Amino acid sequence: MAKINLKLLKNKAKNEIEKAQNLKELNDIFKKYLGKKGEITQILASIKNLTKEKRARVGKEANLLKNFLEKKFSEKTIEIKRKIEKEIEEREWIDITVPGKRPSLGHLHPLSQVKRKTEEIFQSIGFSVIEGPEVETEWYNFDALNIPKDHPARDAWDTFWLRQETGNRKQEARKLLLRTHTSPVQVRYMEKNNPPLRIIVPGRIFRHEATDASHEVNFYQVEGLMVDKKVSVANFKAVIEEFFQRFFERPIAIRIRPSYFPFTEPSFEVDISCSNCRGRGCSVCSKTGWLEMMGAGMVHPNVFKAAGLNPKNWQGFAFGIGLDRLAMMKYKINDIRLFYSGDLRFLNQF
Ligand code: PHE
Repeated sequence: MAKINLKLLKNKAKNEIEKAQNLKELNDIFKKYLGKKGEITQILASIKNLTKEKRARVGKEANLLKNFLEKKFSEKTIEIKRKIEKEIEEREWIDITVPGKRPSLGHLHPLSQVKRKTEEIFQSIGFSVIEGPEVETEWYNFDALNIPKDHPARDAWDTFWLRQETGNRKQEARKLLLRTHTSPVQVRYMEKNNPPLRIIVPGRIFRHEATDASHEVNFYQVEGLMVDKKVSVANFKAVIEEFFQRFFERPIAIRIRPSYFPFTEPSFEVDISCSNCRGRGCSVCSKTGWLEMMGAGMVHPNVFKAAGLNPKNWQGFAFGIGLDRLAMMKYKINDIRLFYSGDLRFLNQF
């Protein structure tokens, strides 16, 4: 009886082990036969109740079966583990020859590019790059620049005034503002630095006006200032011609026209030959062949005085170039608002 039982048991267990799909199943089968209450364990435990001769035979066979199954279990365990490893390998296989995905890198905004180019050119001819505050006092933005109290630029139409909450209504009246130009930095710099000096001041400026293709409420300027014992319009012309040629990377004709600014005397407007039609006349330059690029002039004696310098000792020229304008000319952009739109279809072209 016992012999047949063991044989049946052996085949049954062997079959089950072979069919096991995973370690959990295999473990359950192990428990069923060789666990504490497993069938074979129980047989082994009951051997002591058999007759002496039976005991030896059954005991030997049951032990052989036990060893046989243990071996089967460990073989199957290895087999299943190998299978799992192979699956993981296949799942996690990487083709290292596939070309990688290029991370998309950002780039400088066209206005930053133009600003850097401008700084590079002026620095190479001895100008330092200086910055000034965007929130300015009425004194530096207007008074120190010889701009009279009743000048229209002071009007709320042009200037963003900031109200200071002091509780005193009179004191709260117009004191701080968003600078309308970079010229206040002329005075700020000359107060702290004695001539001779050569600086440019790139920076953001603000004007309270309706936007259209050529007007924005905030845009950028580059102020220029050169002061020495003897500085003339000829020096200005040489510097600015050099700048434009290097900026546009081609010969540029310039034209100086008389103009008016309270902080320069004489004052002028500088035009360059139209980059679109090269001076022949087109819609960009209103058929004149010239494009208005900047305001400039010789530093007014009152500006020197406001900065604490004696106008008898010093001469200088100053200019203010619209950075947006420069960029528009260089890249043939017809709407200033594009710079501030955040539109990647536009920005990615630079
Ligand atoms: N600040 C003037 C403007 O904003 C430009 C300018 C600068 C003119 C320096 C003369 C000298 O229009």
